[in-house]
Amino acid sequence: MEKIIVKSGAKLQGTIRAHGSKNSVLPLISASILASRNQVAISNVPTGLEDVATITQLLQALGIRVAVKDDVVTIQAEKFDSTEAPYELVCKMRASVTVLGPLLARKKYARVPLPGGCAIGSRPIDQHLKGLEALGAEFTIGHGYVEGFVPDQLRGNNVYLDIPSVGATQNILMAATLAKGVTNIVNAACEPEIQDLAHFLNQMGARIEGAGTPFITIEGVDFLRGTEYAVIPDRIEVGTYMIAAAITKGDVFIEHAKSKHLTSLIVKMREMGVTVLECENGIHVSGTEELKPVDIKTLPYPGFPTDLQSPMMVLQLAANGTSMATETVFEDRFMHVEEFRRMGANIKINGQTAMIEGGHSLSGTQVMATDLRAGAALVLAGLIADGVTEVSELRHIDRGYIDLVGQLKSLGAKIDRSNKETNPFFQKESLPQ
Ligand code: EPZ
Repeated sequence: MEKIIVKSGAKLQGTIRAHGSKNSVLPLISASILASRNQVAISNVPTGLEDVATITQLLQALGIRVAVKDDVVTIQAEKFDSTEAPYELVCKMRASVTVLGPLLARKKYARVPLPGGCAIGSRPIDQHLKGLEALGAEFTIGHGYVEGFVPDQLRGNNVYLDIPSVGATQNILMAATLAKGVTNIVNAACEPEIQDLAHFLNQMGARIEGAGTPFITIEGVDFLRGTEYAVIPDRIEVGTYMIAAAITKGDVFIEHAKSKHLTSLIVKMREMGVTVLECENGIHVSGTEELKPVDIKTLPYPGFPTDLQSPMMVLQLAANGTSMATETVFEDRFMHVEEFRRMGANIKINGQTAMIEGGHSLSGTQVMATDLRAGAALVLAGLIADGVTEVSELRHIDRGYIDLVGQLKSLGAKIDRSNKETNPFFQKESLPQ
């Protein structure tokens, strides 16, 4: 079984560069289905990620030509025939459901497997369907699939989302670009990834205003054409490395990071005593000897991101005193707590809130990544735990972090990735001392 093996003791130091955002590029690739003229070329794509491979394979399965070279993905969707997303790909990644809106807009028909359960709680798509129905789509659900068709044509309408769902906002936004008339999405998600999608679509010829606010207006157009576009930096990847720098009392510059996407984290880290400098071309983090406890509550953007709740818990564990973490976005996103407890962490959970008793040392042991961000958080915990920490189930981490080990190693971390079965010579002792 492949593992990440990490030892404590290093203060991270140096510069790393942020990659393009996973959660932004997945819907951008889905949105490329809408380009009936010219090809799309998306750059700054984190092409090494499993999720990016999955979405490109999904488009290829639809008959769309996709080419990947370095960090550029080129998509030629002028002509394609299939409108059915294969189960083998959708079951790997929930974001596959973002092909639903574009397929309905382009082909008036789509058959997509229901995404199913997930390690962070139930994740229905009722808001996606409700919004697309308001635009004139009709759905039947059966045998594990959602089948949608547009009997006449998509028509603009007012859509109110009960929850500011990121995926639902993306699906409705994409479909509305080719609907006849004006669509208003009220209580839309405001995440930077929504703004990125709207910029991309506008460059393709769409008419979208208000993205980044809860009120988005889309005036439908007859067609969209290909364009060249660079993805925004990955704010969650950046946040993870900011926390890594702070827990190790290090000094790290993350080039290309956009601080305005991370205000909630920056303010919370400053409250804890960490020095965070917002520079024009990145973010500089310097740790402090004495971390103060702090409470966080995850919320839709601009609130504290749920995707940083588990990495932040490591910083809270490193602080002197008791901190709280309240999770309001997902119903079951505390799976990492059991693993932290195996490392000696004192954390109590009461409903949606975790009480984290900081200031006690963690002890390295074997732990398992339960989801993508939990996996990264366990690696961070290994950076400050006594002895050796071995993190397994790396497939989760590979979905969303490009070379987590290499990046941390370049900052001086004592970390390695090893497959013990295939490498009998691997020894924990061979890690840098
Ligand atoms: C996106 O998921 C991200 N994924 C998630 O990142 C992120 O955690 C989440 O937004 C919240 O920020 C991608 O962008 C690919 P939602 P998404 O729809 O779109 C409920 C990561 O680690 N809901 O905003 O699926 C839902 O159950 C991942 O990179 C409904 O009830 O999130 C959840 O509790 C994990 N009905 C809440 O809304 C719906 O129709 C937020 O979900 C849709 C959602």
